Amino acid sequence: MTTTPSEATDAGPTVRQVERADLLEVYRIEQSVFPQPWPFEAFERFLDEPGFMVAEASGDDGSVIAGYVVADLTPNFGRDIGHVKDLAVREQFRGLGLGRLLLRHALASLEARGATATRLEVRATNDPAIALYRDHGFEHRRTVPRYYADGENALVMVRERG
Ligand SMILES: CC(C)(COP(=O)(O)OP(=O)(O)OC[C@H]1O[C@@H](n2cnc3c(N)ncnc32)[C@H](O)[C@@H]1OP(=O)(O)O)[C@@H](O)C(=O)NCCC(=O)NCCS
Repeated sequence: MTTTPSEATDAGPTVRQVERADLLEVYRIEQSVFPQPWPFEAFERFLDEPGFMVAEASGDDGSVIAGYVVADLTPNFGRDIGHVKDLAVREQFRGLGLGRLLLRHALASLEARGATATRLEVRATNDPAIALYRDHGFEHRRTVPRYYADGENALVMVRERG
C-alpha cells in the first residue's frame, strides 16, 4: 500500500512495506527515540509482518526513513485483535502528519485482515501519542502500573472497528 498524503510534506512522503535494507535505519530511529529501544532482532522478527511499514521522505541526503509502525494480528477467543506495537517518527519530521499517516495505514491493514479491535500500550505521560490515538478512536481501557522498566505506568487503549 503506497500513498501520497495531502497532509504531509510537499516532498511527498510515501508509506510502504518495510524491507530488510530499511532495518538499520529503523533501528537507529528506535534508539534515538525510546529510553528502552527494541533490539535489532525484534525488528527482524517482524520483517514479514504486513503491519510493519515505513514512511519514506525526502531529506537533505535524498530519501530517508522518516518513521515506522509495527502492528500485528493475534487470534483471541474467536476474534482477531490488532496490536500496535511500535510507532515512531524521526524528530525532524514530526508535526507533519506522518504519525497519523503511519497509524492509518497500520489500522487499515489490520482491519482489512479481520481485526475487530486494536489495542496498544502507551506511556501515561506521552501526551502527543495519546492525542494521536484518541483522534483515531482509541479509548483508555485500563492502566498497567509500572509497565515500563523506569516505573512509568502504561495506558492500555483500545479501538473497536466501526
Ligand atoms: C507520537 C508521534 C509518532 C507522532 O508523530 P507525528 O508525525 O509528529 O504526528 P502527526 O504530525 O501525524 O500528528 C498527528 C496528531 O498527533 C497529535 N500530536 C502530535 N504531536 C503532538 C504534540 N507535540 N502535542 C500534542 N499532540 C500532538 C495531535 O493530535 C496531532 O493531530 P493535529 O496535528 O491535528 O493536532 C511522534 O511524536 C513520535 O515519534 N514520538 C516518539 C515516539 C512515541 O512516543 N511513539 C508512540 C509510542 S506508544
